[in-house]
Amino acid sequence: MDIEGILKEMTLEQKASYVSGHDMWTTEKFDNPAVPYLFVSDGPHGLRKQETNPNDQSEIYDSIDAVCFPTACATAASFDKQLMYDMGVALGKECQATNVSTLLGPAVNIKRSPLCGRNFEYVSEDPYVSGEMAAAYINGVQSQNVGTSIKHFAANSQETERMYADSIVDERTLREIYLTAFEIAVKKSQPWTFMASYNRINGEYSSENKWLLKDLLRDEWGYEGLVMSDWGAVSDRIKGIAAGLDLEMPGSHGVNDKMIVEAVKSGKLSEEDLDTAVTNILKLAEKFLDHRQEEVFDRDKDHDMAVRIEEECIVLLKNEGVLPFNKDEKIAMIGGFAKTPRFQGGGSSHINAHEITGAADVASDYSEFITYSEGFPADGDEIDEAKFEAALKAANEADKILVFAGLPDSFESEGYDRDHMKMPESQNELIKRLAATGKKVVVVLHNGSPVEMPWVDDVAGIVEAYLGGEGVGRAVMNIIYGKVNPSGKLAESFPIKLEHNPSYLNFPVARHKVVYGEGVFVGYRYYDTKQMDVLFPFGYGLSYTTFDYSNLKVVPEGGSDKIDINSGATVYVDVTNTGSVKGKEIVQLYISDKTAATNRPIHELKGFEKVELEPGETKTVSFVLDKRSFAWYSTELSDWYAANGEYIIEIGKSSRDIVLIERVELTGSFQLPPVIDQDVQLGELLDYEKTAEYTKKRFTGAATAFAGADEEEMDEMTKAVLKYMPLRTLRSFGDMNNEQIEEILNELRKLM
Ligand code: BGC
Repeated sequence: MDIEGILKEMTLEQKASYVSGHDMWTTEKFDNPAVPYLFVSDGPHGLRKQETNPNDQSEIYDSIDAVCFPTACATAASFDKQLMYDMGVALGKECQATNVSTLLGPAVNIKRSPLCGRNFEYVSEDPYVSGEMAAAYINGVQSQNVGTSIKHFAANSQETERMYADSIVDERTLREIYLTAFEIAVKKSQPWTFMASYNRINGEYSSENKWLLKDLLRDEWGYEGLVMSDWGAVSDRIKGIAAGLDLEMPGSHGVNDKMIVEAVKSGKLSEEDLDTAVTNILKLAEKFLDHRQEEVFDRDKDHDMAVRIEEECIVLLKNEGVLPFNKDEKIAMIGGFAKTPRFQGGGSSHINAHEITGAADVASDYSEFITYSEGFPADGDEIDEAKFEAALKAANEADKILVFAGLPDSFESEGYDRDHMKMPESQNELIKRLAATGKKVVVVLHNGSPVEMPWVDDVAGIVEAYLGGEGVGRAVMNIIYGKVNPSGKLAESFPIKLEHNPSYLNFPVARHKVVYGEGVFVGYRYYDTKQMDVLFPFGYGLSYTTFDYSNLKVVPEGGSDKIDINSGATVYVDVTNTGSVKGKEIVQLYISDKTAATNRPIHELKGFEKVELEPGETKTVSFVLDKRSFAWYSTELSDWYAANGEYIIEIGKSSRDIVLIERVELTGSFQLPPVIDQDVQLGELLDYEKTAEYTKKRFTGAATAFAGADEEEMDEMTKAVLKYMPLRTLRSFGDMNNEQIEEILNELRKLM
């Protein structure tokens, strides 16, 4: 494609209209066939291609027949990067077959609160997992010459007032928690497009935020693709273009086009900035149109794949000798979700699913002794005593009870947040009554984010199926009957109750501001640091087999016994399947910073690998650690930083089940210097290597005079007073004048 040539031929007016959509899903179309246009479509876990009424917002659920893969809350639990890649490949092929240039996903906003209505579409509370899984998915889709649009950039972790609210987040928290997934994706997969979110960040709309879209995304991270707005996320289009927002979607019916022309003519907007936006759209078109592939959308094949993926995602949360079921047992299958599974969420990601498999539909493939009774509906919360009675009767006649429960559609969706974490009362009540029969109860859950489980101690088994895509019923039954060994683990913490969540005091919004008051202490970073009990911890999930860990080895690069921050280390650990069936284990590596250089979570996940093992088999799993594995973001340095000193490498089955540890020493870094001005405290100067000696010499006399005693005889309080004494107070307590203080500051600066 001759991008420069096309750009040269375009008039100012054409360029102005080219930087916004022609309709909801197509970029601007001109009569001139030399200027390309593209079709984009939601995403992320299937194609929502709105073909018949592309501009009708009310037709959001009228899209092409497509395959609904498990949603991100489920796929995250697979912790399987290869699986994400493979799913991306399948989706990329579907896009080629249906002429979709760009799939609008993945969505990687951090699960700050269990209440966010869109958590089902988001990956994790952990930015590393979110970034790694997203990058794998992006690489998969893009390997088929189809673009992705990682979204919603950024700090858009709730639905309440999502189009307007101002996320108030300090830079360290932004960098460590809310931006990291996007950063990993850029560095590992260069998404073809980025989607700027609706909200504002510290006062500035994302779609016109130069720091976010240019300074950080392009200059610092090296992003090369296109930035588009979320649908209707543009406030000031002129500012947006200058800030790096290339494409407005869907468009403004020409209003902004005129403003752009005027702004260029009046010099308010440089034509160069407009040209950059046009060029980025043309480059996207070139990537797609110059590499078209012949593909067939094989819906049946992809349906089978959706089942296989979900099998990897299901998390076995509890199993007191009840699972897997045996085909000869009499099973009472209860709950509307068995017939009408909830397998996806509401809103822009809603797929017109090709073939929905409920567990009840396929039950006879597993056993002749399964009965079905509705008990409670899948789409509401009514207690119907007659249905309860029928369910209890079936339960009393069975050996075991299998309940399909979860959140009805109306409980969680794009557009609004939940205001509690409870399941419908009808479900809680029936589960309680079923448990009271004394029979073993297994509960299968269909939900997009954590729920409270008042019956957790009364049931023998809990299976978290999440919103597992159109094949969820088959996948669940394969797990229940042991045809597949469960291997998912939670990519989010399940708190015991909502009030325990760290965002609770500030969620969702107050006077249009969302204060991210918990800072970096999100999810397990908070619960683990506070040593709080949770219902189920981050990284947790059971299997039908057991695994043993041994032989943890940390091997620093370069042969030293210390890890140099510039070269890192490789960590090895052996994992053995000690049970009698084949299984997969998700091995997790956390790092705990013992240097006390700043306040940090007690540990953070820095590596995960999923490994498959035959009974008795051992495999060595390895992880590569680099500077970022140890670092936090220092706003003093405007850079990532890790202090020299002690860290603990932890290998865990979950964030709460650390099975092996090794203490390591990090070197090659430097000590964070104190700010040298008249407010610097004596303690800081004594702690800092380069100023310690000078400070001791220079102030011992003054300190002794102040305390009336030398160091050995000083009481603790006097020592503390001296430690936290700013230099300037020596005017009052140390009999020093301004010239002397200035001279000391000069001496100190020379030492830095
Ligand atoms: C959503 C996006 C989606 C877009 C197009 C917006 O409301 O936030 O995630 O891609 O609509 O449907």
